[in-house]
Amino acid sequence: MMSTLQARNIISTFLVFLISFISCNSVLDSYDSNSIKGAYWPSGRISYLPPSAIDTTLFTHVYYAFLQPNNVTFKFQIDNSTALQLVNFTSTLHYSKNPPVKTLFSIGGGGGNVPQFALMASFPSLRRNFILSSIEVARKFGFDGIDLDWEYPQNPQEMNDYSILLDEWRAEVIKESEATNCPQLLLSAAVYFSVNFFLSGTFRTYPVDSMNKNLDWINAMCYDYHGSWEPSVTGSPSALIDPKSNISTSYGLSSWIKAGIYRNKLVMGLPLYGRTWTLKDPSVHGVGAPAVGVGPQGAGGEGVLFYYEVEDFNKNNSATVKFDLGTLSTYSVAGNVWIGYDNRRSTALRIGYAQALRLRGYFFWALSYDQDWKLSKTASELWIGYK
Ligand SMILES: *[C@@H]1O[C@H](CO)[C@@H](O)[C@H](O)[C@H]1NC(C)=O
Ligand SMILES: *[C@@H]1O[C@H](CO)[C@@H](O)[C@H](O)[C@H]1NC(C)=O
Ligand SMILES: *[C@@H]1O[C@H](CO)[C@@H](O)[C@H](O)[C@H]1NC(C)=O
Ligand SMILES: *[C@@H]1O[C@H](CO)[C@@H](O)[C@H](O)[C@H]1NC(C)=O
Ligand SMILES: *[C@@H]1O[C@H](CO)[C@@H](O)[C@H](O)[C@H]1NC(C)=O
Repeated sequence: MMSTLQARNIISTFLVFLISFISCNSVLDSYDSNSIKGAYWPSGRISYLPPSAIDTTLFTHVYYAFLQPNNVTFKFQIDNSTALQLVNFTSTLHYSKNPPVKTLFSIGGGGGNVPQFALMASFPSLRRNFILSSIEVARKFGFDGIDLDWEYPQNPQEMNDYSILLDEWRAEVIKESEATNCPQLLLSAAVYFSVNFFLSGTFRTYPVDSMNKNLDWINAMCYDYHGSWEPSVTGSPSALIDPKSNISTSYGLSSWIKAGIYRNKLVMGLPLYGRTWTLKDPSVHGVGAPAVGVGPQGAGGEGVLFYYEVEDFNKNNSATVKFDLGTLSTYSVAGNVWIGYDNRRSTALRIGYAQALRLRGYFFWALSYDQDWKLSKTASELWIGYK
């Protein structure tokens, strides 16, 4: 008798073997991607949702988050269990889901152990390893594209290297497409909410020309404006406007457009999680109210509740849900707990805003943090596609 483990290993080996013959997807060639309804799919154990459970009627593109290259060679070394997960992800979303969605894998992310992109981008040979290996992974596992989530290039030199990386990446994608007769892989990037910024005392601006030329679109992360790093005052994590500062979605998206990014390459990010504070005085609870620290936390860590946890918390504690006109955002209060997040109303408003700007679409971080697809549905139903 074969053990279950042996059987699984044989099946895994077979799947990985099988997929290596699928050089590119033709299934989705005629697929309309004038609009992007994206979502990142966290592949780890936190809030895990199997690919088979994804409601693909609500999305056009789903990102596998994340893969990391080896931080010495900058090639991808995919272990067997990851290989199985990648095959399962792309094959489920391409073949057993109706409608199918396009898949990209995202490299990097905001987590702690991210590779040293700056080192890679500054050396021609490392860039080459990274680019060739990423294309190989995409084809081998049946992805439609690759997303780079480098958070963030630190200074003008790194922004310049970033632009060279994008030039070479697109050139290689074109070359591969011509050699194989496969459609070009999609290339996208997750970027800061505004085109230029001061962080750690250094001013830098993204290389918009190179991004227009080489990327299919960019995902502007319009969230994390305020959080646990500002423990003494409440703030809207995804303020649409902010009369007092430039840390808002309207400022960020306008800055990209002013800098010349094509509107059809700009995709707005929406958070499927809230950030919590503990109020100093429960009766003073607006945006900008004094606080004494973070509030409750859930699976997402310090001062974070995923959207489904926020709804549970609100229900469990009979919280009051408020809409703040100053930032056009939602918060809830229960006793001394304060949560800034987006609900149906504030999500709908952001979708309307993105359409008024004629952006390409929107994306969520992260798909599995929704509650019964509530906000994914709100966004998808409101979004009017382009001809
Ligand atoms: C991974 O799979 C390959 C075949 O695809 C096999 O040769 C190798 O032993 C496997 N490694 C592990 C650690 O299971
Ligand atoms: C490279 O990756 C390993 C394992 O993820 C990590 O322990 C190590 O600190 C990394 N090294 C550098 C230089 O980033
Ligand atoms: C993906 O994995 C799930 C759970 O292990 C399994 O039920 C499903 O059949 C797999 N799908 C594909 C297409 O491999
Ligand atoms: C916001 O940005 C503009 C330029 O884009 C600048 O002139 C203004 O001073 C900034 N305002 C604040 C409050 O930082
Ligand atoms: C809400 O209450 C349920 C049932 O008591 C509990 O399992 C859950 O953890 C609570 N959730 C939050 C976020 O408070």
